[in-house]
Amino acid sequence: MIDALTQLSYVLATALFVLALHWMNDPKTARRGVQAGVAAMLIAVLATWAQPLIIIHHVWIVLAIAAGFMVGWPLSRVPLTAVPQRTALSHAFGGLAAGLVGTAEYFLWLNEARANLTPFRMTAILAEIILGYLTFTGSLMAAGKLQEIRWIPQRPVTYPLQNVCNIGLLLVAFVLGVALVLNPAVSWSAAVFLVIIGLALLFGVLLIIPIGGADMPTVISILNSYAGLSAVAMGFVLDNKLLITAGALDGSSGLILSIIMCKAMNRSFANVLFGAFGSVAASGAGGEQKAYKAETIEGAAQLLEQSSLVVIIPGYGMAVAQAQHKVRELYDQLKKRGITVKFAIHPVAGRMPGHMNVLLAEADIPYTDLTEMDEINPDLPQCDVALVVGANDVVNPAARYDKSSPIYGMPIIDADKARTVFAIKRSKNPGFAGIDNELYFADKTWMLFGDAKAVVGELVKQMSGGSGSH
Ligand code: TAP
Repeated sequence: MIDALTQLSYVLATALFVLALHWMNDPKTARRGVQAGVAAMLIAVLATWAQPLIIIHHVWIVLAIAAGFMVGWPLSRVPLTAVPQRTALSHAFGGLAAGLVGTAEYFLWLNEARANLTPFRMTAILAEIILGYLTFTGSLMAAGKLQEIRWIPQRPVTYPLQNVCNIGLLLVAFVLGVALVLNPAVSWSAAVFLVIIGLALLFGVLLIIPIGGADMPTVISILNSYAGLSAVAMGFVLDNKLLITAGALDGSSGLILSIIMCKAMNRSFANVLFGAFGSVAASGAGGEQKAYKAETIEGAAQLLEQSSLVVIIPGYGMAVAQAQHKVRELYDQLKKRGITVKFAIHPVAGRMPGHMNVLLAEADIPYTDLTEMDEINPDLPQCDVALVVGANDVVNPAARYDKSSPIYGMPIIDADKARTVFAIKRSKNPGFAGIDNELYFADKTWMLFGDAKAVVGELVKQMSGGSGSH
């Protein structure tokens, strides 16, 4: 009876996991998606906990849940801009958990039930521990790079024959693994098992050091799929179908997200993993000094008020400045004057997928006015003012033609085709790719230097002062 109930709960949890992913595809249903995911996880934990062999260990389970809460609660309070590194930490914990379960299971069977160490189970255990432990150290490194921890270099660290060394290391682990599958319980088996763990931990570090901070969100997504695959292997080891389905969902969604991000940056998987992107940074900077033209708040407000179509292009700077609520006020001011306002959303604006959508939704900007890049670009030649709020790389025209540029080939938002461009940023510093942006030197572009929240706030003040409303 209890077994039937458990299996039923697992089916329900799987269905909810699938629905959660489906609902998270659209901002309108994303909250429901999160709730479905939480409900699925709760059902999964309770159904597992209720099993007779497990419930006898309730004290340990309660302690583990309490420890999880103690770590998870502060992690849930991080600012939105730190979500990528927070996500990396979650994957690190997921990978570690899978690795530890695989280790425990191996030693348990080695000491008490050697007959259980069949070639199939050994293969599953090895896949679980290799993927789990490399996800653990790889994700910790990725989180450290994103958090800009001092002793973890942000720039790609490269050395001769790096890829050969890395693949060689993985090959050694593979060969040892095959030896262990054939000899799971001889005198040297336990030692080899520990060596494989060490190699996986080392591989996680070596995999991440040649990758620059700019590619970390994509790498985190790839590590997410590794953690998912590790959970699938754990499902086979523990004969738990829910772990297999949930891990497969995790693994495939992580992979799909990585592919979407690579496409939006016009990069290949191999280029992200082995390209040492970021070492080419700063090309163009430091050359001849080009001139920027600055505009006053009064001048910018006046032109905005005379427009029929304004396209706002948000980027990472809007997130850093937490300017989304001020942007909403500006949107209201413009709408009040009968001006059409659209937001142009680039798929990799900011530092994580959906970064801009989340911020603008938080400020209650109607979803109907958020327009994807491909949809808004044909409208930009008719646009009176393109207002760039803390974006840089995603509006850099060099991506279209400059083959030497690190962002060459990345699709961009055609801000340069608008009649006038106002660009809000604090300084002449480049964006994430580390390159100058010719858009800011163009005849039609006027800079509004300053923190995005402050500048947009001043624009709102100027417009709500009644000046020029018509
Ligand atoms: P960036 O190119 O990084 O430019 C952001 C600009 O915001 C900077 O030039 C900065 O200039 C400005 N800024 C920073 N703080 C500000 C503040 N408080 N107020 C006003 N401006 C501020 O951003 P983007 O255009 O959004 O492009 C995103 C980049 O990240 C792309 O290169 C993309 O490939 C990369 N990336 C994104 C993702 C995802 S999933 N979103 C994943 C991997 C890589 P100042 O310092 O002068 O203010």
